[in-house]
Amino acid sequence: VTVYLTRRYRLSASHRLHDPRLSDEENRARYGKCNNLHGHGHNYFVEVTVAGKVDPHTGMVCDLEALDRLVSAKVLVPFDHQNLDLVPELRGAVTTTENLCRAILDLLRDGLSHEHLNAVRLDRVRVEETPRNSFEVAADGSPGI
Ligand code: NI
Repeated sequence: VTVYLTRRYRLSASHRLHDPRLSDEENRARYGKCNNLHGHGHNYFVEVTVAGKVDPHTGMVCDLEALDRLVSAKVLVPFDHQNLDLVPELRGAVTTTENLCRAILDLLRDGLSHEHLNAVRLDRVRVEETPRNSFEVAADGSPGI
């Protein structure tokens, strides 16, 4: 039987929704106050779900500390308390939470081959932007921004 493990992380960052291919007026029409010149911040929650079999020796689906190390190295260190518009991992993308979700999935996808996580597969990434908005991407989707 497959067990799904979801781990929740806090991520605080700023951004501004702005597409440089559009005029200022078009950006305002599309993104509203999210296009305000000096940006704004969010206290995001990032949820990472992995799936696997329960190890008969440990009774666990994966090593939580190994998962924390991976998420920290790939996501929290580069993104936390940063301006997302300037983070190299998101270059070229409007920093919507949809795109943030996809970028996080791509960054974590390969890391699970790490020695302590090779028994699980990445199932999904969910990012909560506000109490009213959350976005989720499944790992079986197509890769890349
Ligand atoms: Ni925003």
